[in-house]
Amino acid sequence: MDIIKAPRGVRDVLPDESWKWAYVMDAARKVSNVFGYSEVHLPIFEHTELFARGIGDSTDVVEKEMYTFEDRSGRSLTLRPELTASMVRCYLEHGMSQKVQPVKMWSAGPMFRYERPQKGRYRQFWQLDVEALGSDAPEVDLEIISFAIYLFDMLGLSNLEVVVNSVGCPECRPTYRQALKDYVGSKFELLCPTCQNRFDRNPLRILDCKNEGCREIMKEAPGMTDYLCDECKEHFHRVKEGMSLLGIHYKEDKNLVRGLDYYTKTAFEVLSGELGAQNAVCGGGRYDNLAEAIGGPHVPGVGFAAGIERIVLTMEGQGCDFGPKPAIDVFVVTADDSAKRAAMKLLYEIRQNRISVDMDYSGKSLGSQLKMASNKEARLACILGDTELQKGVVTVKDLASGSQEEVSRDSLVDYIRHSIAH
Ligand code: HAM
Repeated sequence: MDIIKAPRGVRDVLPDESWKWAYVMDAARKVSNVFGYSEVHLPIFEHTELFARGIGDSTDVVEKEMYTFEDRSGRSLTLRPELTASMVRCYLEHGMSQKVQPVKMWSAGPMFRYERPQKGRYRQFWQLDVEALGSDAPEVDLEIISFAIYLFDMLGLSNLEVVVNSVGCPECRPTYRQALKDYVGSKFELLCPTCQNRFDRNPLRILDCKNEGCREIMKEAPGMTDYLCDECKEHFHRVKEGMSLLGIHYKEDKNLVRGLDYYTKTAFEVLSGELGAQNAVCGGGRYDNLAEAIGGPHVPGVGFAAGIERIVLTMEGQGCDFGPKPAIDVFVVTADDSAKRAAMKLLYEIRQNRISVDMDYSGKSLGSQLKMASNKEARLACILGDTELQKGVVTVKDLASGSQEEVSRDSLVDYIRHSIAH
């Protein structure tokens, strides 16, 4: 029988990599504190309608990428493809409009989309999601964008490109939609089949088609920003003004529309050349009508989500520092069974002092145990043999310098603490 492997597009994050994730998550947690966002844990699956109505029926995500299943009582449930709709649901369900607005929350965890796997694109991937709910002020858009930039700066990422656009609102978008259709309609035959299909259902999506022919056509397409109503125009102006004020370099891209239907006004992405085709490290924007789309009252909101795999890939590509790789401080080496027994007590005592320590349980030779200690990148080896047990001492070897000395059992923890501090 063949060994069962993980499904296509999902991956194990092994110890070689997981410490880098911990570093990124640690930084995210720090930035969240600095910006005043609280962590929430949200369900991995939700009612399918939440995403169908929230994200939009004619989006790729809802049309062909959701992992949807029926539970045993026949309810249609979906593994979350993103967190924004869930965040808004959570806000509504817990009456958060009673709190000081905006309510600022973040969450992280796995998302699921049935996409064609490639570098930086998986079927299960992690997002860090940050949302501010209950305010329509452009300053909050700015806070969200600066949150992302602050985090990427803290992680040492460079050469990132911030692209922004305004996708308008239900008041100004229909006029633009028509103008776009008028333009695209005259070139309909030249569009790829997917875009021909999008023409009636979701013409704005043609703007970010990756097909070369469509891209060429869309270069000359009218831009949403020429059709914005006064309110959207002013909002966009204030967001851009704010970015300039904070020294955030950005590029306006009239063809940036994003793949989810809930966006209004600001849309933005942060791109990295390191990632190849899947070049967005994060994406986000404002979604003032999402709460209504899922049955709630009007609750404006803005946020972003960043892919953890893509952050780590970009950091690796750019040789960014992930901090020290976790290693153990001490490895206990035992000569025989009686030493092993004494070592168990020693191990526990060292651990109780919050010092990391390990040993071999398989009865390896002294030499192999010392090799194990080096493989684990331990700083010190504590050697316990007959002589040590009789004398009430431990031989402590500094694995970097090779020097060793006898230390009395009673002062061992202090000695270790002092040695690893240097
Ligand atoms: P999104 O652009 O679909 O937006 O995803 C955000 C980020 O998640 C992307 O920029 C990318 O880094 C990562 N990502 C998306 N799909 C994959 C995948 N298949 N494999 C690996 N990484 C991926 C959203 O999800 C919105 N909810 C963002 C948002 C929050 N808008 C407002 N608030």
